[in-house]
Amino acid sequence: MAGDKVSIHGSWASRWVFILAATGSAVGLGSIWKFPYMTGVYGGGAFVLVFLLCIALLGLPVMLAETLIGRRARQSPANALRDLAIEAGHSAKWSWAAFAGMITALLILSFYSVVGGWSLDYIIDMGRGDFQGVAPEQAGAYFARMISDPWRLTLWHSIFMLLSAYVIARGVVAGLEHSLRIMMPLLFLLLLILLGYSLTTGHFMEGVHFMFNFDTSRLLDGLLPAMGHAFFSLSVGVGSILIYGAYMPKNSSISGTIVGVALLDTFVSLLAGVALFPIVFAAGLNPGEGPGLMFVTLPLAFGNVVFGQLMGMVFFVLVAVAAWSSAISLLEPMVAYLVERTRVSRVWVTTGLAFICWFVGLGTVFSFNIWKEARFFVTGADSFQLYQWGAAGGLDFFGVIDFFTSRIMLPLGGLTFVIFAGWVMGREAVREELAMRSPKLFALTFLLMRYVAPLGILIVFAAQLWK
Ligand code: TRP
Repeated sequence: MAGDKVSIHGSWASRWVFILAATGSAVGLGSIWKFPYMTGVYGGGAFVLVFLLCIALLGLPVMLAETLIGRRARQSPANALRDLAIEAGHSAKWSWAAFAGMITALLILSFYSVVGGWSLDYIIDMGRGDFQGVAPEQAGAYFARMISDPWRLTLWHSIFMLLSAYVIARGVVAGLEHSLRIMMPLLFLLLLILLGYSLTTGHFMEGVHFMFNFDTSRLLDGLLPAMGHAFFSLSVGVGSILIYGAYMPKNSSISGTIVGVALLDTFVSLLAGVALFPIVFAAGLNPGEGPGLMFVTLPLAFGNVVFGQLMGMVFFVLVAVAAWSSAISLLEPMVAYLVERTRVSRVWVTTGLAFICWFVGLGTVFSFNIWKEARFFVTGADSFQLYQWGAAGGLDFFGVIDFFTSRIMLPLGGLTFVIFAGWVMGREAVREELAMRSPKLFALTFLLMRYVAPLGILIVFAAQLWK
């Protein structure tokens, strides 16, 4: 029976280690860097509301589907879909959809590593005291100076990629447990300290208002971006969670665990937003400023409090660790696949793939400097509302990769996994894998997976096209 297989890549020692790894994957730059800046770009509360709905109705079912597919097949995404499809009497071609997801993961990693590199850079800058007593314009100018230097970005991008590849080369199961046990709770604590600082800015309620008050006319603006980001934030749609599910011990409950991870991830995003926006308003910054938002706001906060130098440094260490534990889950699906499929060793597979991602990542590095003016997919200046940031006449390289992965491939990948669980594997297999105690709760979960999530994803695509 499929449920009794074991993975050749190892297994998590317990359910707790799976929770750590999955939380490590979900909580990362998506929550701390991307969520606040996208909320700013798409106008605050309307975006947050749609994002939360997408998490609950679309992201969560996809996450459950991925985990149960992985745990049943105990293999990399492409091989998992192939074997389970054949087992259920369907076409082996399903593996192609998962393959596309694994490529998407590598594309995401290419820019993820660049931004992870920014946080490494800021560890040093903070620790050196570059931001002591800094004013808003100076913090902005500092960030602008950093991203205008391709060598500096390439250096940190390279270091970040090496750090991620190192863990994968050793095997993810062995590599993650120790560091995450301490780092994740610490990150949480520092976010709370940051929140404490926000409370003292005198603009706290303004920030909260921005995040939770919405203008119904703007609900549609950020629909596709919010859905894409919900998937991004939960790490679903490319097989990251699937491969972690493949290493999950047999006798642990999927549903409770996954709901916990999703809640934690969402909570960290909201916390980061609530902590950052008051600082943005207090400093008179533009909330829609884009990807630099966190890198300008945090130095301002830490540069102007006692022990800020130390706390700021620790904060960026933790951001980097959160990013690193996410980056790992982007690389693992394809590595696992190639280890299953070829005779090449894990170390060489990892080295090769990390190099390719690093190379593609140079495009993102250059988007902020040498290729700053280059535009791909040029369209009429305003018709391209799909992507507002950097939209003057089209998208830059980073914009293209981000757009293609988050807005198109993640939802399509999500669609693949829910359809696979809901329609290809079928009710009995899903029931057996989820092993939920309450039949009613199972019926609801299956309904979400089989109907609500697939239709919801298609409706969001349609709404975006006909808007
Ligand atoms: N979820 C991570 C973050 O929020 C990034 C990430 C890891 C990811 N694995 C993924 C995004 C798979 C999409 C798909 O930082």
